[in-house]
Amino acid sequence: MSSLSKTSFQEMTFIDEMIDQVIILDKSRNVCCANKSAFTRFGNDIDGKNISLILRDANLLESIDIAINTKKTQIVDIEIKLPNFEFFKANIIPGPSKLCNQDQSVMIFLKDLTEIYKTQKFKSDFVANVSHELRTPLQSIKLGLETINDGHASKDFEVQKQFLPIMLQQTERMESLINDLLSLSKIELQEHIRPTSEVDLKEIINHVIELNLELIKKKKIKIESNIADNVYKMFGDRSRLIEIFTNLINNAYKYSEANTIIKISLINKKDIFLFSVKDQGVGIPKKYLPRITERFFRVDPARSKDGGGTGLGLAIVKHIVNQHRATMDIISTDGEGTEFTIEFPKI
Ligand SMILES: Nc1ncnc2c1ncn2[C@@H]1O[C@H](COP(=O)(O)OP(=O)(O)OP(=O)(O)O)[C@@H](O)[C@H]1O
Ligand SMILES: [Mg+2]
Repeated sequence: MSSLSKTSFQEMTFIDEMIDQVIILDKSRNVCCANKSAFTRFGNDIDGKNISLILRDANLLESIDIAINTKKTQIVDIEIKLPNFEFFKANIIPGPSKLCNQDQSVMIFLKDLTEIYKTQKFKSDFVANVSHELRTPLQSIKLGLETINDGHASKDFEVQKQFLPIMLQQTERMESLINDLLSLSKIELQEHIRPTSEVDLKEIINHVIELNLELIKKKKIKIESNIADNVYKMFGDRSRLIEIFTNLINNAYKYSEANTIIKISLINKKDIFLFSVKDQGVGIPKKYLPRITERFFRVDPARSKDGGGTGLGLAIVKHIVNQHRATMDIISTDGEGTEFTIEFPKI
């Protein structure tokens, strides 16, 4: 607390202990008093500063005036957009108070709700995304059924047959989206539980390569696997690890052209097993790298949809990597290729 001399010691101590920020302004809207939390949050130099330089929000400034003029407490939401998003609920209580006995002083209690706001927004965005992703194939199935039921194909068996593969494909798309969503919610719940079964990374990776070999060959992509003969035993969840390698290898060939090479390696290092999958595909523009493991994020939504992806693959991978206390790195050059590496701790 600043300006201690103006107030009683007990009140200061009490307010200083609060997690919420408390700022008291004099009649010129300059800070005459603030608690520890406010100094930590807004900087040690706020004493004497005008509130408009601390919280640039028109609503707040207007509500301070109203609180003073009407002598009534005002409650206002404050949204700061730059440099980072912040959301506060402010109680503006008109003075004078024991902490500042000037007539037009005002006490501001700030509750930082940024994290709660972000969580809520994340959830509602997620529901909106899921609904959108499900609606697209559903509309296509509905259109097919309407055409067969009472549209131009209602009496023509041959035309009806043309609609069936499209409807089947869209149904499969919905099915894989629902499977991915279930997988994601399950892994989120289990993320803090480290697997206790012993697995062999080499065996799992070779198994996944084997499963994908046909598709990779079909696309005329060469696969080079470099896994030295060694022991790659660690604690892990086999089916979850299969999901990681399937997703990464799947992405590598999905986002690569014919006549390119995918290199897969596993190295036994001192404390870690280092896995890498490197492609010569389209690459990921640098600005998108921080967002690449977000749910439903696709660099090019149209391209991914054509390839049948749900946009949940890397979000699932990220959670499984965390569950194994591993770390993932992505290096990519737009137009040249991408390398995903994962470091699995041995202990
Ligand atoms: N190896 C890669 N090369 C280029 N871009 C990639 C690569 N891996 C991922 N991406 C980009 O990251 C996005 C997100 O990948 P993610 O695996 O989460 O979703 P997806 O591949 O679209 O769908 P799904 O994995 O469900 O098939 C992709 O849409 C693509 O734009
Ligand atoms: Mg993918």
